[in-house]
Amino acid sequence: MYDDSSIGTLATRLRAEVARLRTGDRLPSSRALTEQYKVSPVTVSRALSTLAAEGLIVTRPGNGTFVADRPVRSAAAPDFGWQAVALGDRTVDATGISAMMPVAPEGMIALSGGYLHASLQPARALAAAASRAVHRPSSWERPPVSGIPGLREWFARCVGPDIAPGDVLVASGGQAALSASLRALLAPGAPLLVESPTYPGVLVAARAAGFHPVGVPLDADGVRPDLLAEAFSMTGARVFYCQPTYHNPTGTVLSAQRRAQVLSVARAAGAFVIEDDYARHLAISPGPPPLATLDRDGTVVHLTSLTKVTAPSMRIAAVIARGPVAERIRATQVVDSFFPARPLQETALELVSSPSWPRHLGAVRTALRRRRDTLAAAVARELPGVSATTPSGGLHLWLRFPYGLDEVALAEAATRHGVLVSAGRPSFPAEPPAPYLRLSYSMAASEAELTEGVRRLAQAL
Ligand SMILES: Cc1ncc(COP(=O)(O)O)c(C=O)c1O
Repeated sequence: MYDDSSIGTLATRLRAEVARLRTGDRLPSSRALTEQYKVSPVTVSRALSTLAAEGLIVTRPGNGTFVADRPVRSAAAPDFGWQAVALGDRTVDATGISAMMPVAPEGMIALSGGYLHASLQPARALAAAASRAVHRPSSWERPPVSGIPGLREWFARCVGPDIAPGDVLVASGGQAALSASLRALLAPGAPLLVESPTYPGVLVAARAAGFHPVGVPLDADGVRPDLLAEAFSMTGARVFYCQPTYHNPTGTVLSAQRRAQVLSVARAAGAFVIEDDYARHLAISPGPPPLATLDRDGTVVHLTSLTKVTAPSMRIAAVIARGPVAERIRATQVVDSFFPARPLQETALELVSSPSWPRHLGAVRTALRRRRDTLAAAVARELPGVSATTPSGGLHLWLRFPYGLDEVALAEAATRHGVLVSAGRPSFPAEPPAPYLRLSYSMAASEAELTEGVRRLAQAL
């Protein structure tokens, strides 16, 4: 049995145990705790994650759980009250993003999050690339502010034959590229059109900078050009952010006909289109060429990132833009952070130039296909009445539940049952039309975990 009270009781007992131990001492294994306290593994896992969130313990996967460093406290607790007054009423709400980066405690299955599980990452090739890169003294010199030439050439080649290396700005990950592009293109208070639903990270970045996201609905072929035109004329927006290929969270691919329509609607409105091509290397079936390859007059600002297909800390991405907007985005990045760290740029270039790179891409594609199929089969079996997408790329299934279900409560119940899933609500700029959950097939340790995760979700439901 496990419920909130048994988790709370165990957490209290473990706190007392931790207080008796010294920094760095190892706690008994989860199995030993299960037996010692006569509780379920999920209760142990939840109680440990409560203590981890309080900073009392740290879990080192494969190694165990240890007592964390205790902060040295002065006798009088500091009074931070003045800061609330000084900071005023502006807020930066990162919950939409933090919810995407949960730490799965031992025993918990992760069907949330948007990166590759460690077993799918090119760990050896990355280590070799990093070692070659960091041992070259020149890697620690200041790079050209737009990025090292070899990497700019590689990004340009990936996007299309008409893209020049000079159009590429290397950035520190997709989120930084997105945030800098938005701030370069929009003035505070401006509307920003986004697909509805969309990537929660664009909503939090836009709101933090004082922009107003306005949703334009998608259907199975991607964003609806008729409604996009209406939204441009209603709001006077000058920027539309979209993910035409393997859209997060729905997996939709914008149809060929609509690609041309979206560009002409934006062109007629005198607006930019930010194309977030975050999942280009996560294709299960090949997708259409990027919107940027159809663009003749600098309408499209194209974003692409290496983190998704390698590892979350390979924080190298690119912005591809032409005309004065390119200089505006470059200047915004220089003002923010000068340039991305050169050792990481050199590592990225070593990695994508190594013979193991195409092998890695092939292995990821095969693994993602199998994982997607396993997860989709488990959903069809365990969750009758729930409709799910079968994406041709990306990392997620998008599940639609019957009206009336509280998907946030379901996601919380799922956590109590030992599986992390993402509620759909943070993906919508306004009220969602129905309850949705997003399930990732890339974060679990194995296909067996995907199946077990859906079984736990069905129990929670
Ligand atoms: C659609 C989309 N764009 C951009 C990002 C940012 O990724 P990163 O900063 O790791 O490149 C994400 C991450 O989840 C995403 O899903």
